[in-house]
Amino acid sequence: MTINPVFTDASPLAPVPPEQQFFTDVVSGLSAGQKYLSAKYFYDAAGSDLFEAITRQLEYYPTRTELGILDAEGPAIAASLPQRADLVEFGSGSTVKVRRLLRHLPDLSAYVPVDVSESFLLSEAEALVKDFPRIAIEPVAADFTRPFTLPDSLHGEAVAGFFPGSTIGNFEPQQATQLLAHFGRVLGRDATLIVGVDLVKDVGILEAAYDDAAGVTAAFNLNLLTRINRELDGDFALEDFTHRAFFNPRASRIEMHLVSMKAQTVRVAERSFAFAQGESIHTENSYKYTVAGFRSLAVEAGWEPGSVWTDADNLFSVHALKRR
Ligand code: AVJ
Repeated sequence: MTINPVFTDASPLAPVPPEQQFFTDVVSGLSAGQKYLSAKYFYDAAGSDLFEAITRQLEYYPTRTELGILDAEGPAIAASLPQRADLVEFGSGSTVKVRRLLRHLPDLSAYVPVDVSESFLLSEAEALVKDFPRIAIEPVAADFTRPFTLPDSLHGEAVAGFFPGSTIGNFEPQQATQLLAHFGRVLGRDATLIVGVDLVKDVGILEAAYDDAAGVTAAFNLNLLTRINRELDGDFALEDFTHRAFFNPRASRIEMHLVSMKAQTVRVAERSFAFAQGESIHTENSYKYTVAGFRSLAVEAGWEPGSVWTDADNLFSVHALKRR
């Protein structure tokens, strides 16, 4: 079996160099009234390793719970997909989760992992080819939030999408609706979409998941400042900032912040940013849904809600959606 990578840049404008975009985003975020940084910048090499470490913390229930649902309900989830389909995973990263589905999909035509990291994409694809020799692996290097086209070589009878990990929770509900509608356009008519969504639950469980005792989530959050120091010539003193995570019940989201422990001025390249004592940089939102709440968001995005699978403790949900 061959791997046919497709590299797309659907942007009609000349692409902005990534370091330039990072700098522009940092300057605008640190200039705002409530300072903020985009959570997408967590994932440099160290940040990706720290995220993997988070998923192994006892307090961080989402990853193991979703894997448990995929294991327990794999046959039912697979049965909700059309036979001989092509399966597109948005933001595939490591292929640990999709493997739980692929083993129940012997008639799958092709698996299309979509990720921005080309090197990771290709190494994961090679491993999958060995383990699933009957499935065509067709990686696409693209930002899944932007328009991109599926490989022409797909010849399945239907298209399905997979978006696990509650990554949908990192988007504002309105953006999340737009993203699901965008997935619908990418996948086309009669598509099926399988989405992993973290659920609203006891605040203590939620807050512990984002502030583990070993301090791995704190290190993950602070690594953003290390990255700015290294890549953008910043001078953040890490010991002067502290990790804070809390559930905001009105917005139904976990918020992560980096709080300045003292009044200080921080420089990034030739720009300076003043912090009051206790002032924070808002670094991430992780929205938590009820099953009904997520289903109505899906309806707004043009999808028809189908089956929902959860764990026994109702911590996490996996939804099947059909395109109307
Ligand atoms: C995998 C991006 C959904 O929001 O739970 C984990 C990221 N941030 N701990 C999440 C994350 C802090 C995670 N997502």
